[in-house]
Amino acid sequence: MEVVILPGADDVADQAAQIVADTIATRAKPVIGLATGSSPLGTYQRLIERHRTGTLRFDSVTAVILDEYIGLPAGHPESYREVIRREFVDHLDLPIARLHSPDVAASDLAEACRAYDDTVTGLGVDVQLLGIGSDGHIGFNEPGSSLRSRTRIKTLTDRTRADNARFFSSIDEVPRHVVTQGLGTICDAGHLLLIASGASKAAPVAAAVEGPLTAMCPGSVLQLHPHVTVLVDEDAAADLRLTAYYRETLRHKPPWQPY
Ligand code: GLP
Repeated sequence: MEVVILPGADDVADQAAQIVADTIATRAKPVIGLATGSSPLGTYQRLIERHRTGTLRFDSVTAVILDEYIGLPAGHPESYREVIRREFVDHLDLPIARLHSPDVAASDLAEACRAYDDTVTGLGVDVQLLGIGSDGHIGFNEPGSSLRSRTRIKTLTDRTRADNARFFSSIDEVPRHVVTQGLGTICDAGHLLLIASGASKAAPVAAAVEGPLTAMCPGSVLQLHPHVTVLVDEDAAADLRLTAYYRETLRHKPPWQPY
């Protein structure tokens, strides 16, 4: 796991966009994994800007979404598919048919989860963007999630519903159930890119990066993956113990070694 401590949230977004852009530029048919929440928005804006200025094309890109709420009416502005469309895909030349998300309207949801898992692994995600929840969740894999889980239905914790209530007019509107790629599914991606900024992320980042490998902190599953880049700002890095080592590693990073 490579931990990169950057001055602020803008630097995290710059660097994350650079890594995603490099991935797209070096593959014939790139597959990128998209996350929701506030953390990736700066990254999306920078990628949109690169597209707008003609330095990055998305016409050969396929995108997969990590998770989705169950029970919101089709087209609800806070459904994750709508958020990703509005904040990212609608501004690009990425064909909408190549934006994949769980089919939460399916009559057989368990089968839809299996089908989505097959789609994601069949495509083969090159780089997966990840935020982290205050309880250490990634995607919507709440504490207690099997570290080898596949795409399935999960129940949100009260804490996650409270965290996400800011996107709705009241907490009562936040769905209780979701479909999320499992931790095992996420770990099938070639490169995991965790981004976090702000003091509220200090504890979950430290638990995921340096804490014990445990289902109580689903983000700790990143420790099992061979290619993880963690981009954090100073505030989100505040609880890490090996900060001097991470900074030293970055200072001596060989120019030929990409993230
Ligand atoms: C939601 C999403 C996660 C995201 C998390 C943190 O729960 N399902 O993918 O990482 O929120 O969001 P934020 O970046 O807004 O703190």
